[in-house]
Amino acid sequence: MKTSQGLLAFAAAAGPSMAAKSLLATPPMGFNNWARFMCDLNQTLFTQTADAMASNGLLAAGYDRINIDDCWPLHKRAANGSLQWNTTLFPQGMPWLGSYLKQRGFHFGIYSDAGTYTCGGYPGSLGYEEIDAATFESWGVDYLKLDGCYVNPFKTEKYKQIYSHWHDVIGRMSKPMIFSESAPAYFSGNEHGNNTDWYDVMDWVPGYGELARHSDDIPVFRDTTAWGGVTTNYDFNTLLARYQKPGFFNDPDFLIADHPKLTLTEKKAQFALWASFSAPLIISAWVPALDKETLEMLKNERLIAINQDPLALQATLVSQDGKWDVLSKSLSNGDRILTVFNRQTQNDKLFVPFERAGYPIDPSGTQKYNVTDLWTGKSDDSATKGVTSNVPGHGVQVYRISPLYNTGRDTVVPTGMVFNTATRQCLTAGTDGATISLGKCTAADSQVWRVDSNGTLRSLAFPKSCLGADSKSGIASIRVCGGAPARWQQWQYQSTGNILSSGVGGSCLTAGDNGSVVIAKCGADRNKQVFEMPSGSLRE
Ligand SMILES: *[C@@H]1O[C@H](CO)[C@@H](O)[C@H](O)[C@H]1NC(C)=O
Ligand SMILES: *[C@@H]1O[C@H](CO)[C@@H](O)[C@H](O)[C@H]1NC(C)=O
Ligand SMILES: *[C@@H]1O[C@H](CO)[C@@H](O)[C@H](O)[C@H]1NC(C)=O
Ligand SMILES: *[C@@H]1O[C@H](CO)[C@@H](O)[C@H](O)[C@H]1NC(C)=O
Ligand SMILES: *[C@@H]1O[C@H](CO)[C@@H](O)[C@H](O)[C@H]1NC(C)=O
Ligand SMILES: *[C@@H]1O[C@H](CO)[C@@H](O)[C@H](O)[C@H]1NC(C)=O
Ligand SMILES: *[C@@H]1O[C@H](CO)[C@@H](O)[C@H](O)[C@H]1NC(C)=O
Repeated sequence: MKTSQGLLAFAAAAGPSMAAKSLLATPPMGFNNWARFMCDLNQTLFTQTADAMASNGLLAAGYDRINIDDCWPLHKRAANGSLQWNTTLFPQGMPWLGSYLKQRGFHFGIYSDAGTYTCGGYPGSLGYEEIDAATFESWGVDYLKLDGCYVNPFKTEKYKQIYSHWHDVIGRMSKPMIFSESAPAYFSGNEHGNNTDWYDVMDWVPGYGELARHSDDIPVFRDTTAWGGVTTNYDFNTLLARYQKPGFFNDPDFLIADHPKLTLTEKKAQFALWASFSAPLIISAWVPALDKETLEMLKNERLIAINQDPLALQATLVSQDGKWDVLSKSLSNGDRILTVFNRQTQNDKLFVPFERAGYPIDPSGTQKYNVTDLWTGKSDDSATKGVTSNVPGHGVQVYRISPLYNTGRDTVVPTGMVFNTATRQCLTAGTDGATISLGKCTAADSQVWRVDSNGTLRSLAFPKSCLGADSKSGIASIRVCGGAPARWQQWQYQSTGNILSSGVGGSCLTAGDNGSVVIAKCGADRNKQVFEMPSGSLRE
């Protein structure tokens, strides 16, 4: 979608028009065995899981996919080159299992690998793409997770070649197949803070499939800690919101709903964060034995509704200070969600004013909002200033906010952090009301930016000052809005993560030395030029 002059356009206003066309309009929901059982899999595991999901309400709640992960095949291909299932593990075979699942209302998903072997050492699909696609199709498979072990040479170009080939092969199949790409996971988290390869892969992945498995694997059942892994994957996901749209989803991996090292509060936190992200909700647990509280959590219809919202926006960070993460996004009916994540171990309380959720600054303090707690469904329709949240340690509260005045939807402005995704440092307006810098995120008003549809950025600390580029000095600063030619105070946000100056041709917001912010030739250094912005601050 191209907007005039490529100015920042507010996605929420555009509506879910493109959703209908895509293969995966909203994120997938279902089951995968990996994190819970790894290679201990068999036919009974999947039939019993499906039976349980059909009888305990998970299927009715929307969890309609059963995906098999690694270790299902024999070590040898058949004489004609096709993959074969292990008949000890799957005595009745994959076509039988596929129809068993389909008869009960599930889709059937499978796993293979882009390289010569799967990560578990079974045959990979390299060189067998056409044969394997035909085999999967004949088994009734309509979802493929393609892992990225044993790809040689270990180069982004090689991955691109293989995944684009798979895209072509899938495109020629008689029925569409959802394609989950694990390629980016192999390039995330460079220890030298160099994300160039990760960004390169994330740039092409949306062109070939529906899902990006983008970073670390979520902890498996036997891991002795789990919370750190959940927050790591959550943190990675916050770096990629710009890529997500109806039809393409960032995948921070499975819901580990019966992990013995997670408390119920922590499981609920993962679920609420994944719901806010519109991330895939794929459960990896022994479903027949899930307890009542966990099932209730997984079936929470208010949180599933925001996960499955047709806009498919990923909630983005409003603020972050080490103790609290606050996130927000728009929903298709014009409501906003506010997600409040207490990263501390102790219970605590936080007040978030409505303008931080993207609503107008209301000096009169009389405009009313209806605020619904999505865990309990309890609502308060008399709120005028903001939301006070009591959140347990490692807990997450999610609120749905509906303005009770007429122009609510039109006046929402994407609001939140602008931060460099390599250093995670926040764009900060200086106390002098002129300089800007990149520094530690503190949740201060000087780090919460409102992104107007005309391409201007203003912090809550200086609501009348706009972020501007100065071509002479080569620096960026804030000045009174309108005090400079308009285009010098306007920016375009690109899906590459670049923030392009409308006034200084070909120049992008760039992290300089010692926290300074400069403008430099776009493409000069991606690590210094890739930023996340509030969701809805869109792009081409
Ligand atoms: C199938 O796998 C599950 C999970 O690993 C295991 O508990 C069960 O005993 C296995 N069943 C058969 C028939 O092998
Ligand atoms: C390849 O061989 C396997 C095992 O004998 C068989 O099940 C499959 O149908 C064959 N595939 C084709 C395309 O002939
Ligand atoms: C099939 O799986 C079983 C259980 O993991 C394993 O012992 C056996 O070796 C496998 N069969 C073949 C032919 O690989
Ligand atoms: C970052 O990685 C890319 C690709 O591997 C490489 O071309 C570039 O030189 C690296 N940059 C730095 C600053 O190390
Ligand atoms: C507030 O939202 C709840 C649902 O969360 C709804 O039942 C109630 O009618 C709403 N109140 C107003 C005044 O719109
Ligand atoms: C952009 O929109 C804001 C808010 O509507 C307005 O205050 C500002 O003057 C506009 N700036 C330009 C350059 O159009
Ligand atoms: C950055 O800060 C260091 C330490 O204060 C200083 O030595 C260096 O000259 C500064 N660099 C620039 C480009 O300002």
